[in-house]
Amino acid sequence: MAQLFLGIESSCDDTAAALVTSDREILSSVVVDQTALHAAFGGVVPEIAARAHAEKLDIAVETALTEAGRSLNDLDVIAVTAGPGLIGGVLSGVMCARGIATGAGKPLIGVNHLAGHALTPRLTDDLEFPYLMLLVSGGHCQLLVVEAPDRFHRLGGTIDDAPGEAFDKTARVLGLPQPGGPAVEREARKGDAARFRFPRPLMDRPGCDMSFSGLKTALLRERDRLIADQGGITHQDRADLCAGFQAAVAEVLAKKTARAIETYLTFEPSDPTIAVAGGVAANSAIRAGLETVSAEAGLRFTAPPLKLCTDNAAMIAWAGIELARIGHPGMDPLVPRPRWPLDDRQAALLGSGKKGAKA
Ligand code: KG4
Ligand code: ZN
Repeated sequence: MAQLFLGIESSCDDTAAALVTSDREILSSVVVDQTALHAAFGGVVPEIAARAHAEKLDIAVETALTEAGRSLNDLDVIAVTAGPGLIGGVLSGVMCARGIATGAGKPLIGVNHLAGHALTPRLTDDLEFPYLMLLVSGGHCQLLVVEAPDRFHRLGGTIDDAPGEAFDKTARVLGLPQPGGPAVEREARKGDAARFRFPRPLMDRPGCDMSFSGLKTALLRERDRLIADQGGITHQDRADLCAGFQAAVAEVLAKKTARAIETYLTFEPSDPTIAVAGGVAANSAIRAGLETVSAEAGLRFTAPPLKLCTDNAAMIAWAGIELARIGHPGMDPLVPRPRWPLDDRQAALLGSGKKGAKA
């Protein structure tokens, strides 16, 4: 018999609840975003986020139950994000989940947010371990070999900004709306990617680490040079800047992923596959670069639908299902953590951005 899991997510700026069965059926997935609350501040304000989560969590859970036509009694397990993320939000989610679990007499399992992202392709596709995962969002950037629900081998990641963060900052310095990714991509379509040659940081260094903050500085310098020379920037200048920036990000992600394949293949995968997750996976130039890399290496490429790539609670319920299936208790004891690397052996030395500490 399929088991029913409630997932709860509140580690950043989305309050989410979802009902998912162990048969991979998503009965409901509610996401209440806080974009409007943070808009005036140019980034997520942790205190505002925590308060909004505390206000919206029970409503999100109730809506998820109603939409699925189920009650608390029907649940088998409650899975909650226990980290990494903004601690106030994680704490709100864990307290809410603990209350529900105690009240309804159900088991509670603490899940890693990044594991949720990294395991999502198995919710939406038939995918065997181990697979190579590129996780790219506004807060995260890492290349991982996903070996099991509780085993991840980190091959590299950003040492400064996440790619989504770089897109958002680029949009801001060019007067484009937030979130920056879709706006920059739209502009880039009209631009000439060859006009400005932006740096491809860390390409000459071995390994899979990446850096995106220098790219933003280079773009700012070009913008200011144009303003000094011409007294301003034209629409075409802006489109060309966006196209050049996007091409640089896409090339870095594609080349570092290509570099990760060699190590990945030493894990002897039965069905060699590259999977991508996170909001930046929506970008068609980035996706195209990864598809080319996969095809050239003879690997399969898979990406979950976008609404499961961005933050949601179905991925948390699913990570709980994957852990329960192998008899893993989740985080034990369940103590909310702002930092929680997926791979303790290869934890990033640096890396903290607008969305708080990264793992
Ligand atoms: O996964 P997500 O919804 O939230 C977290 O960061 O956890 O990712 C949001 C990020 C934002 O930085 C946004 O600008 C970026 O994903 N993004 C994109 C695109 N759509 C969203 N970046 C590049 N191109 C896009 N089309
Ligand atoms: Zn996320």
